Amino acid sequence: MEHTASVNPWVALAYLVSGVCFILALRGLSSPATSRRGNRLGMIGMGLAVVTTLVTHLPVQTVGLVLADPSGAIAATGPLFARIDMLTLLEILGAIALGAVIGLTTARRIAMTAMPQLVAAFHSLVGLAAVLVACAAFLNPVAFGIAELVVPMIGQPFAAIYPVSRIEMTLGAAIGAITFSGSVIAFLKLNGSMSGKPILLPGRHVLNLAVLGAILALIAGFYETQAPWMFWAITLLAFLVGFLLIIPIGGADMPVVVSMLNSYSGWAAAAMGFTLGNSAMIITGALVGSSGAILSYIMCRAMNRSFLSVIAGGFGAESGGASGGEAIDRPWKRGSAEDAAFLMSQAEQVIIVPGYGMAVAQAQHAVREMADKLKAHGVRVKYAIHPVAGRMPGHMNVLLAEANVPYDEVFELEDINAEFAQSDVAFVIGANDVTNPSAKTDKSSPIYGMPVLDVEKAKTVLFVKRSMGGVGYAGVDNPVFYMDNTMMLLADAKKMTEEIVKALD
Ligand code: TAP
Repeated sequence: MEHTASVNPWVALAYLVSGVCFILALRGLSSPATSRRGNRLGMIGMGLAVVTTLVTHLPVQTVGLVLADPSGAIAATGPLFARIDMLTLLEILGAIALGAVIGLTTARRIAMTAMPQLVAAFHSLVGLAAVLVACAAFLNPVAFGIAELVVPMIGQPFAAIYPVSRIEMTLGAAIGAITFSGSVIAFLKLNGSMSGKPILLPGRHVLNLAVLGAILALIAGFYETQAPWMFWAITLLAFLVGFLLIIPIGGADMPVVVSMLNSYSGWAAAAMGFTLGNSAMIITGALVGSSGAILSYIMCRAMNRSFLSVIAGGFGAESGGASGGEAIDRPWKRGSAEDAAFLMSQAEQVIIVPGYGMAVAQAQHAVREMADKLKAHGVRVKYAIHPVAGRMPGHMNVLLAEANVPYDEVFELEDINAEFAQSDVAFVIGANDVTNPSAKTDKSSPIYGMPVLDVEKAKTVLFVKRSMGGVGYAGVDNPVFYMDNTMMLLADAKKMTEEIVKALD
């Protein structure tokens, strides 16, 4: 099988249009109001890129008429011509169809709460794809157009890979392998198949640096010698680095890891785009890589972690990660739906703080209904969103948008935090870590340093959760439960909110 060249200006134009679609998609995804349009533009861009690549790289076979005499010797040849290699084309279409079916079924079935695992699994596939493309290019570089066939006077002919391609393919393989093994560990931890606790190897920073140094030295060696063992050693060591980088990370720090792996998967794809000479892949990879890096940076700021230590791996681990929560043996007050309805209907301003528990209970529609009733009572209602509330970036925004909560009632942490002190009620529904004030004071807490919503400053805090024993993602108890101005509403978030709605009637 061989491939037709793709220097056609129409191809460049199609790739450019798909690149513009991706940029507009990212812009659209930056706000819940435009995110659906952004998603559609991304799909159009990807569809265009896939079709263009397929059409310009149609597998062809060279065939021609060959006449042989009865002894088998070639007597005459006719003109050679190319025809589409239908078998290979069917294989490609079959693989696309299979991938589409798996993607569609998974996306339809997946629960919103399992989204981070799914994203980690997808990143692992991008990483693996980059490794496989690098391996294919290494094993048959002439077919990929990245080598020249050298026929020496003595010895076997060999493919001399172009020096720049040696760097691109080893970098692509290394970043892809790190992304793959790192994402597999992230998936296992997020899925609960592996303990979320940090696994701290002695001298892990030195070990990480040594393995990374060895990879860089081997890339330089491969650039000089094209020695096959070096290529395989780089790939194997990179798998090890991905594993070493993610095992020490635990507890509440996982969101940053997922967005960091997202960024790595983009850079791996971009590196392979250079090897394949495919500009769409370079553009897409660079967009994913840089937007993932920006998101990681934003998440680091939200979690008050240093960006550099995230890249180095194992940040925040010393503080203990997802340790078991120690319930504080102190008195606390329990309230009913009627109490909550009465308190909120008398308030001037109520701030609703949604968290992971609201997502689990699918209580967003009931919350919206409750807010409508409160507004009918003349109460001002606002929503406070913490950047890592729930289990994925924008989790709460998506749920509230699904329940048609007006966007102008939804505020980010930095825009609303000062308002808790002037509010009558903070209604915390299924959120725990993002409201935990020990993040501000307790240096031994795994979430120490993370900015949190100052719910305890409201006149009354209504806390909806199922039990006093249940802890949040970081596994720590929340002192707000035991404060004088807190009333615990212990029940499933949806059930409790529906009862409050009834009581408001
Ligand atoms: P969490 O701290 O995880 O707290 C969830 C709370 O919801 C718990 O108190 C739990 O208590 C309650 N809950 C669970 N199911 C419930 C139900 N059906 N009804 C009522 N309550 C229920 O949530 P959060 O405050 O949103 O914080 C998010 C945490 O996840 C952070 O630590 C963050 O770092 C981490 N994380 C975030 C992301 C992203 S990107 N957002 C990704 C991965 C991890 P009970 O069990 O007692 O009900």
